[in-house]
Amino acid sequence: MIQGDMLYEGKAKKIFLTDQPDEVVQYFKDDATAFNAQKKGTILEKGIVNNKISTRLFELLEQAGVATHFLKKLSDREMLARRVKILPIEVVIRNRATGSIIKRLGLEEGLVIDPPLIEFFYKDDSLGDPLITEDHIRMMNLATSDQVASLKTLSLKINEVLKPFFQERGMMLVDFKLEFGLWNGQILLADEISPDTCRFWDIQTGERMDKDRFRKDLGRIEETYQEVLRRVCA
Ligand SMILES: Nc1ncnc2c1ncn2[C@@H]1O[C@H](COP(=O)(O)OP(=O)(O)O)[C@@H](O)[C@H]1O
Ligand SMILES: [Mg+2]
Repeated sequence: MIQGDMLYEGKAKKIFLTDQPDEVVQYFKDDATAFNAQKKGTILEKGIVNNKISTRLFELLEQAGVATHFLKKLSDREMLARRVKILPIEVVIRNRATGSIIKRLGLEEGLVIDPPLIEFFYKDDSLGDPLITEDHIRMMNLATSDQVASLKTLSLKINEVLKPFFQERGMMLVDFKLEFGLWNGQILLADEISPDTCRFWDIQTGERMDKDRFRKDLGRIEETYQEVLRRVCA
């Protein structure tokens, strides 16, 4: 595998081409953003932590029969992945109410959501990633009805794999965001799964163990990312 030109630089990662047409390298940066990139900063060694955590979780999901873009971890900050065509839909799975849904619907912080709620957001930074319905997805041709049905089934399955994994490590999986892509007509889980894209609450103390520490200036950001890594990769 020879790393080639940069295909895309996002807020948290860079994507590089390789000498294989259907493979890319994901390079994890320390850059952190929140509130649609209005807040910017750096979380020291976040890229290393998120690459390790994502690697562990993609391996776990593959073992559980979920097809992902993950091929192998190449280095501290680099992961080899299948090059997919990302569906411009962010899928959010909620087991408890917090964050944007509280503001939107006036729910009580921490309200249990069972069965879990699935929400779709249109992946478009210039629009601020707005909430969309299945009818919007159909109207805008973002995905077929069959693909939307698969996204929901896959997301619930992923939740059922991840929830007990974190529970055993003293963490409540409150909510998380997934991105999927198309590869040879197949839907693959893509992007990353990390404290940047999930909310974890410590089961003992209720402490926030994710990017909310950065969003809300809660302090001990680096230490918390390292603690999540320690628990996930122990
Ligand atoms: N396997 C893949 N193939 C192609 N693109 C991918 C793959 N996995 C993730 N991506 C895309 O690469 C980008 C990753 O960089 P990131 O910094 O998260 O970007 P963004 O600022 O758009 O969130 C995302 O836009 C994501 O959708
Ligand atoms: Mg991203």
